[in-house]
Amino acid sequence: MTNEVLVRPAVTADMAAVQAIYAHHVRHGLASFEDDPPSLDEVIRRWRDVVDRDLPYVVAEQGGEILGYAYAGPYRTRPAYRYTLENSVYVREGLQQRGVGRAAMRVVLSECAARGYRQMIAVIGDSANEGSIRLHERLGFARVGLLTAVGFKFGRWVDSVLMQRSLGEGEKSPPLR
Ligand SMILES: CC(C)(COP(=O)(O)OP(=O)(O)OC[C@H]1O[C@@H](n2cnc3c(N)ncnc32)[C@H](O)[C@@H]1OP(=O)(O)O)[C@@H](O)C(=O)NCCC(=O)NCCS
Repeated sequence: MTNEVLVRPAVTADMAAVQAIYAHHVRHGLASFEDDPPSLDEVIRRWRDVVDRDLPYVVAEQGGEILGYAYAGPYRTRPAYRYTLENSVYVREGLQQRGVGRAAMRVVLSECAARGYRQMIAVIGDSANEGSIRLHERLGFARVGLLTAVGFKFGRWVDSVLMQRSLGEGEKSPPLR
């Protein structure tokens, strides 16, 4: 057993832990606008969709235990958006504020920059999601917008906070491929 947090590419065997982490946040939080947690099969399908696009999906592990995960997917599917991604990051309840989210996201950001992507968007459920807003600020994201009351969950309207940061040279040069 080691105390070091290791961030590594996720494999199928990690998906049960990922499903459990996400299910908690779906049931109890406003970060995700899903009402019902996806099944393990659906979580595996979503993971495959990410890796089939050659995009990073990582888990943070300590002593064999999965503490959290992060990945990037397409922001929107129309072709002009192809250098822009949207990220997701979730940390197991009770293990937050220990640097896990930051460690996982740093790897996702550098992997995406290395693949030539130029912009990353975070669509954060709930204006009061201090943890996610702070994490993204710390990672160099700027708040670029607020979509007011676009969600309805737990009997109330919920905002989406939009945050953005550039990857690599951002808009300073044309894309490489
Ligand atoms: C948001 C989330 C991923 C952050 O991960 P984390 O491992 O707790 O964050 P880290 O420990 O890496 O913290 C990064 C920074 O954010 C700050 N932070 C994290 N949670 C915070 C909170 N609840 N309130 C205030 N600041 C917080 C940390 O103090 C740190 O800032 P610092 O550099 O000033 O010390 C995690 O809280 C989570 O899973 N939340 C529920 C789901 C969610 O909101 N996901 C994001 C969807 S976009």
